[in-house]
Amino acid sequence: MSEKLKIMMVAAEAAPFAKEGGLGDVAGTLPRALSKRGHDVRVVIPRYYKIDRKELGLKPVGGPLGVSMGIMGFLWCAVLEGRLPGSDVPVYFIDHEQFYGRDALYHESGQRYLDSDNRFVFLSRAGCELCRMIDFSPDVIHVHDWHTSAIPVFLNTLYRNDPLLRDTASLLTIHNIQHQGIFYKGLMDVLGVGWEQFTMKALEFNDQTNLLKGGIYHATLINAVSPSYAKEIQTQPFGHGLDGVARDRAADLYGILNGVDYDEWNPETDPMIACSYSGDYPSGKALCKEELQRIFDMSVHPDVPLIGMVTRLTNQKGIDVLAQAIHRIMDLDIQFILLGAGDAWAHFYFGDLPNRYPGRFGCHIGYDNTLAHAIIAGSDFFLVPSRYEPCGLTQMYALRYGTLPIVRSTGGLNDTVDNFNETTCEGTGFVFHDMTTGALYDTIAWAIHTYHNKTVMETLIPRAMSRRFTWEDASVKYEALYERAVSKRRGRH
Ligand code: ADP
Ligand code: GLC
Repeated sequence: MSEKLKIMMVAAEAAPFAKEGGLGDVAGTLPRALSKRGHDVRVVIPRYYKIDRKELGLKPVGGPLGVSMGIMGFLWCAVLEGRLPGSDVPVYFIDHEQFYGRDALYHESGQRYLDSDNRFVFLSRAGCELCRMIDFSPDVIHVHDWHTSAIPVFLNTLYRNDPLLRDTASLLTIHNIQHQGIFYKGLMDVLGVGWEQFTMKALEFNDQTNLLKGGIYHATLINAVSPSYAKEIQTQPFGHGLDGVARDRAADLYGILNGVDYDEWNPETDPMIACSYSGDYPSGKALCKEELQRIFDMSVHPDVPLIGMVTRLTNQKGIDVLAQAIHRIMDLDIQFILLGAGDAWAHFYFGDLPNRYPGRFGCHIGYDNTLAHAIIAGSDFFLVPSRYEPCGLTQMYALRYGTLPIVRSTGGLNDTVDNFNETTCEGTGFVFHDMTTGALYDTIAWAIHTYHNKTVMETLIPRAMSRRFTWEDASVKYEALYERAVSKRRGRH
């Protein structure tokens, strides 16, 4: 490592405090890896209602923080400080009852919160103002997705001549380009950055304000969460209207694959699974399968292949195609377990399948991390049929647990799972290309056929278990990007 960097990470979620998807895993884990490399990293997230001040021993920082919200005037919040578990990394919680004092992060009972524009513009501006409050002059502010994309815009406008922030570079990580934070154009007056930013190149998008677009235009550097996704977002099918903007920044756009928190996801030490196991002691996995079959009231059959799935139930994850194919898939001699939450139709559709296939289809609608561990450990195969997948974490967890992934070749799935080659016996999983029921069915049938060839399985499983995608590796790459961003901001290249 060269220089010790001061890094401010501002995100809508960070595990274990608040997590809806992989973004929370990344914002909760990457800072620890960076801190281990000697950097001064701080994290900023909202204090959602469920983040218990007393239980976590959060301490107030300074007095109330005044945050300018343009024509809405100054709004005040408190700032509470805690630590990322297992580290010294400070986490600052922006405490604003009206914006974050709610049960969920983004939506409740299928309804999105209607004031998310103000909620996340506030978070973005509060992140900048907090630097002043604690007299912290970051080398780089690392922002994630649309929620905090206003920060690069602020740094290039409101704070361009600020003594504390004028040299601060920004890195925008794109976890999902579909969600862009598109709001009415009057939001420009809340941002307070001037209407000259409402241009086709910067924040304007079909006569509305697009926060992610502003972030892509203004960030010093940008990265997507896998090399494949960095390329895909520059193409029309994956860019969701921002492919041109991404192409304009191609020279500053990188791909860095996420890592896995192997302290949590390790079958040798995982306290959430029925029996620990390793490549040398694989029989523990059979006990995990048996326990999983019991949890879901399935028939206990060691030799029937079991396919598991843990996912948000949204269109991105290909669940519509799965729904069309599922009856054909259930004609195979298999068991299937699904854990997920998301779109209401999917709750009803998949939630009813255990009645139709008693003892063979298990389903839990909801969010349950312990069950996720049990499924990833106890299944033989792990299905991720995503339409697009910026990185995807669960297929990497599955590999570590010797649960062979069946995935569509897109984004990070493409970068982490090697297709089984019958001739050479290489590979770690089963990959399909077309987003069709036929391709999905055929690939599952191929995996099931392979399952009955014990010699092949005994080669594939230990190989899958030996694959590693570490945050140590990813943090070295992030460090290089931060350094590049700092040089660029300071006009060194
Ligand atoms: P995404 O962020 O698009 O949802 P990822 O694969 O990057 O996809 O991350 C999903 C994360 O959320 C993983 O840690 C996964 O275990 C977890 N997860 C998703 N759905 C559930 C659920 N219903 N219960 C428990 N964990 C879940
Ligand atoms: C997003 C993506 C997912 C990725 C995660 C973390 O939620 O959908 O593919 O793994 O962010 O970067």
